[in-house]
Amino acid sequence: MNRCKWSIATTALAAMLAISGCGGGGGSEAPPNNTGAGEEVSEYSEAMSVYRQKCLSCHGAELQGRSAPSLQQVGAKYDEAQIAQIITEGQGGMPAFGRQLSEEEIGSLAEWLAVQQ
Ligand code: HEC
Repeated sequence: MNRCKWSIATTALAAMLAISGCGGGGGSEAPPNNTGAGEEVSEYSEAMSVYRQKCLSCHGAELQGRSAPSLQQVGAKYDEAQIAQIITEGQGGMPAFGRQLSEEEIGSLAEWLAVQQ
């Protein structure tokens, strides 16, 4: 009986190690395309992958801005709802993404950008 318990515990531990091993922070395996948000990688990974596909070309890999303004401190300027609105409806030279992205994708982008401050 006890043996069975142990093997479950060991498997769970191994799975945890495997997951945390992918989270970056290890010296040699620097993650490619790091968007600079450090340890928030796993919590905001969906937002960051949408960002890489749809936003990076104008706002830069590090949110530093290219043809578009920097988003590195965008959370200090707008709250989550305002950011979601800008993404959905566009603003100035910023295209509207309301038709290209789901509400959920826009919501997670807004949540992630709102903590950039
Ligand atoms: C075609 C280039 C382009 C793309 C792609 C793009 N943006 Fe923008 N974005 C801009 C420009 C230009 C502005 C400045 C708009 C203005 O005149 O106020 C901007 C502004 C913003 C702002 C407001 C910044 C501020 O300080 O006022 C946010 C937030 C933003 N973009 C988020 C995003 C997100 C999230 C995506 C991906 C879904 C994205 N953008 C994709 C060009 C782009």
